[in-house]
Amino acid sequence: RYFGDDDIKEILYTQEELSRRVREIGRSITEDYRDRASERASDGAPGLVVISVLRGAAIYMSDLVREIDLPLEMDYMAVSSYGSGTKSSGVVRILKDLSSQIEGRHVIIAEDILDSGLTLKYLMGVLESRNPASIEIATLLRKRTERQVDIDCKYVGFECPDEFIVGYGLDYAEHYRNLPYIGILKPEIYQGK
Ligand code: PRP
Ligand code: MN
Ligand code: MG
Repeated sequence: RYFGDDDIKEILYTQEELSRRVREIGRSITEDYRDRASERASDGAPGLVVISVLRGAAIYMSDLVREIDLPLEMDYMAVSSYGSGTKSSGVVRILKDLSSQIEGRHVIIAEDILDSGLTLKYLMGVLESRNPASIEIATLLRKRTERQVDIDCKYVGFECPDEFIVGYGLDYAEHYRNLPYIGILKPEIYQGK
């Protein structure tokens, strides 16, 4: 069967809405970090490092960095807590660490979604212990849910409803990441799984 538009109950953010909001976040970051843009790491790399959390945030991050008009390094981490289920297991593991050193540098974590917050909470702890000059979170979505740890996000694209959503990087069992929009998955797709 085809895992695409037919499985979507409702579109929450269209491709145009996403691109407009990502552009706004990029512009805010550009303004906020402009003064620090001339800083360099000891190896000459840009002082600003944008970190994407694989795999969900890869699409958002690649769009976001092209809206930031400053020198920056792109780096990736993979931490996973969800597996193929729909609920967070609360167990976070590092599957792939950064390639770069972040000590003394300005770090922005680009995440696709903050749900329980366990992924970002864990990641902040790991990265803060490496003594970056600063660290901020730029999440595209923040879910409105009671079960969320208290976590400070400087940049939030949208506060989204507590629904099972897919697209623009967000998956269900690795499907739907390549939808250009974000939508609510029909419950019958994941019910009984
Ligand atoms: C998803 C999503 C976030 C995280 C948010 O990743 O991309 O990284 O869950 O949930 P939380 O706030 O409850 O921790 P997932 O673990 O599914 O891996 P993926 O990015 O590879 O899909
Ligand atoms: Mn993720
Ligand atoms: Mg996932």
